[in-house]
Amino acid sequence: SQPITVGQLAKLMHRNSSEIIKFLFMLGNMSTINTTMSDDDVELVCAQFGVECHKEVVIEEDDIEDQLKNIEEDESKLQPRPPVVTIMGHVDHGKTTLLDTIRKTNVIEDEFGGITQHIGAYQVSLHGRKVTFLDTPGHEAFTAMRARGAQVTDIVIIVVAADDGVMPQTKEAVDHAKAAGVPIVVAVNKIDKPGANPDRVMNEMAELGIMPEEWGGDTIFQRISAKTGEGVNDLLETMLLVADMQELKANPDALASGTVIEAKLDKGRGPVATLLVQRGTLHTGDSVVVGTSYGRIRRMTNDKHKEVKKATPSMPVEIIGLSEVPRAGDVFMTYTDYKKAQTIASQRLEKQILKERNASSAMSLEDLARKI
Ligand code: GTP
Ligand code: MG
Repeated sequence: SQPITVGQLAKLMHRNSSEIIKFLFMLGNMSTINTTMSDDDVELVCAQFGVECHKEVVIEEDDIEDQLKNIEEDESKLQPRPPVVTIMGHVDHGKTTLLDTIRKTNVIEDEFGGITQHIGAYQVSLHGRKVTFLDTPGHEAFTAMRARGAQVTDIVIIVVAADDGVMPQTKEAVDHAKAAGVPIVVAVNKIDKPGANPDRVMNEMAELGIMPEEWGGDTIFQRISAKTGEGVNDLLETMLLVADMQELKANPDALASGTVIEAKLDKGRGPVATLLVQRGTLHTGDSVVVGTSYGRIRRMTNDKHKEVKKATPSMPVEIIGLSEVPRAGDVFMTYTDYKKAQTIASQRLEKQILKERNASSAMSLEDLARKI
């Protein structure tokens, strides 16, 4: 088996190295953070901290996402669910302003320098129907967030400022939407501005293969002013029509599963995650697993920071109660019992430890080869 240091193992187990050093000391082994551990010591430490660490574990690819895709849905249990709509586009083209206008809020004022730096998840009622919106950052640094936004969505609204035209992150948004196979609606924004040139936007989008309906293509372009509200209602009606064509459904009675939209460590509350429920209903007290993180949901709040006891399909909720900060984009799953959730998370951790041990040994061999 491959060598691993106390520090590496501690990191993988999300423990402080001093805990492991202390434990080894009690066994009569003096060690430091850089001490290479014997296989037996690794096993003892894993056992002590509740992680199973057999040497013969077969490393297989994590198949949780496939599990999710391969669920055979019983048609009779499916019920309509709200569409998830992701707003994308180049920086400053007006995404957050559009959402503020739709929600009649003013999020943009709270943003640092008016630049969105995280994914906002909101649920809005339109003509008595719920719609979930994800607001993504347009700044070039946040490609991963945009890709994630495109992957969990049913529709992408690409906002293009008519006074600026198609820009690098507009192109990127088109690529993400195409890669995810989601329909695009184009919002040609800022038409209230003197320098607005909507025709130019249509030309430039057509060059990217996004052909306007009025030119015989299949993409709807809606001219709007996110600021004055002009055209926004038409945009929303269009968006609802596109959603209706998809006949979006989910089984609300299943054990909940979905995707982590965002996650962070909060000083007072511990790991906090925004989850998008995609199947089933999530309840306070449910046992969930995300990657190697697990826990019982202690508290859930909706996008208005109100506490809720359950979250149905397409609903975004912020939760606390996880053992560690999960990775954004990972799938979460609910289990009927806590022990099962804990076991699954620790098996994953075990696999991860073995994988990294193999990777680190491969690296050291390479280093060695370089030195020779
Ligand atoms: P990032 O999240 O940083 O990518 O930006 P964003 O796309 O969310 O743009 P945001 O909504 O923050 O708007 C950028 C600027 O454009 C703000 O000053 C808005 O007031 C302005 N703006 C947005 N929409 C319109 C519009 O329709 N007309 C005019 N005149 N200004 C607009
Ligand atoms: Mg924004």
